[in-house]
Parts: sequence; C-alpha cells; structure tokens
Amino acid sequence: MKPQSKIWMDGKLVPWDDAKIHVLTHGLHYGMAIFEGVRAFETPNGTAIFRLGGHVERFLNSAKIYRMDLGYSAKEITDACIELVRSNPAKECYIRPIAFTSYGEMGLNPLTSKISVAIASFEWGAYLGDTSKKGVRATVSSWVRIDSRAMPVQAKCAANYANSALAKMQALSAGYDEAILLNSNGMVAEGPGENIFRVKDGILSTPPASSGILRGITRDTVIQFAKDEKITFYRNDATKEELYTSDEVFFTGTAAGIAKVSEVDGRKIGDNGTPVTDRLAKLYDRAVHGRIKRYSKWLTPVRP
Ligand SMILES: Cc1ncc(COP(=O)(O)O)c(C=O)c1O
Repeated sequence: MKPQSKIWMDGKLVPWDDAKIHVLTHGLHYGMAIFEGVRAFETPNGTAIFRLGGHVERFLNSAKIYRMDLGYSAKEITDACIELVRSNPAKECYIRPIAFTSYGEMGLNPLTSKISVAIASFEWGAYLGDTSKKGVRATVSSWVRIDSRAMPVQAKCAANYANSALAKMQALSAGYDEAILLNSNGMVAEGPGENIFRVKDGILSTPPASSGILRGITRDTVIQFAKDEKITFYRNDATKEELYTSDEVFFTGTAAGIAKVSEVDGRKIGDNGTPVTDRLAKLYDRAVHGRIKRYSKWLTPVRP
C-alpha cells in the first residue's frame, strides 16, 4: 500500500503513520466494526466521489443496526470524506470509512465501549483486475453465505467478512479468481465482496435483496442503467445451474467495478460475446468519470 499523507481519525486529520490503535481494541477481538468502501475518480471537473450520499447512508444504517452511536451526522461524515480526499495526493482513490468499538473494555457486551470513527483513502486498482478481456474465473463456494437470521447481512460489518474470506481463500486455492456464494436455500447470493448479475436471452437479472445479499450501490447503479437503457431487467433467484447456462455473468462492487465472469466451475461463460456486460461496463466507466451529464448528480466534487 502506498501511504497517503493524512487519515481522518475521531474528528481530525492526522499524519498517515500516526493513525494507530491499541492491540486490545474491542472491535479487533469481537468483530464489532462497520465500514464502507467508496471511490473517488478523476472527472473533467477534478476529483469527485461517486455516490457518496448512498455510502454515507449505508454507513449510518450499519451503525444503527449494531447500535453504535457514531457521534457524527451524515453531513459531518460526508464533509470528512471530502476533506480527506482533498488533503491527500491521489487523484483517484478508494475511501474506507470505519467505526469500531474502541479500546477500554473487553468482553462481549459492546455497549460499554466508546466508538471510534476513522476514514482512510488510498490508491487501489480494480479489485479483480482489468476483466474487460480475460474475465474472472469463478467457482461456487461450499461455504454458504451468512444467513440474515444469524447476522444482519444489510450491515457492512467486519465480522461478515470472515465468511467472505473463507470463500475467497477456497476459490484461490482451487485455482479460481473469485467465489460465488449460495444462500442457505441453495440459490445464488453474491460474491465475497460483490453482487452478481446474469444475462440470458438479452434479459438482465440479479438476486433480490431477500436472497440475503448486501444491497450494493454499484448494483443499484446498474439497475438504474438498465432502466435508462431500456434493458429488460428482473430481480429473481437463480440456481447455480442457471449461472452455468447464462449467456453473460458479471460481478458489481465499488472495489471491483463491473467485472466480467468468463467461467463458472469450468463452464465457459460469454463465449459468444458479452454485449450487455460490455455496454454496462462502458456506461459505468463513463459515469464515474463524469462523462455522462445525467449521472453527474452521483458525483460529489472534492477539488473545485
Ligand atoms: C458482500 C458484498 N456484496 C456486495 C458488495 C457491493 O456493494 P457496493 O456496490 O456498494 O460496493 C460489497 C461491497 O461493498 C460487499 O462487501
């Protein structure tokens, strides 16, 4: 990781190397940390943060689900993200707001811990690499996606990512690039850190929120594109066999962008071209870089 100059910590910007916490920080031991992943892109009007409002709203909702009192309003978190990106040299960056139960108390009751809030920004290329040519080789994991009866999947909580990491490690060890997790009903849910879409006979679809997925902001962006581009779109459940026989499959996420899948468990996907994925990926790339006027509402400029 290439260090930036500042990190926002508990209300102020501190030098990158000073953004440290104690080893007995409560959240480190019990997974009590909620976070976001946001990106800023270069646009013709300078650096701008994509869909910051949606990310801040999800951050506050995650905190509410875990009964964390952040002590900062949506506006204060928004302003902190903007100030941070402005203070750091990267023109394009990933932004990571995080809130966690802090140092002071141990034990399973998080309610006695103070909540710390930090925001870091750093350079980070597309999480699954440039998939426009080669595509991602994915495998259906034997790990089941966490069930909302056990953990709130709508909260972006650090603890959820132990499930993601197990699936990711399994996929990598088997020689694949990424995992696809099924839910406890055996239907397709999502990737470890991405939502999933498929295309069959020109129809675009993605699992509904009720399948136990994180309601991704990139997923929402793609749904909006589909409406605007008049692409037939449904939210519906799919079996893994329906993925195997899809014409196109792609992942969406802030870290990964729109990442084309070229294979699921040894079944080639997109052999006959990926026109819908390519069209949506191009739209996404142009929208985040401020090249489509109708989507400029999603961009918050940081360097006027
Ligand atoms: C489990 C999971 N699903 C989906 C996503 C995609 O969400 P977004 O598009 O908001 O980044 C993420 C990333 O935050 C994630 O961690």
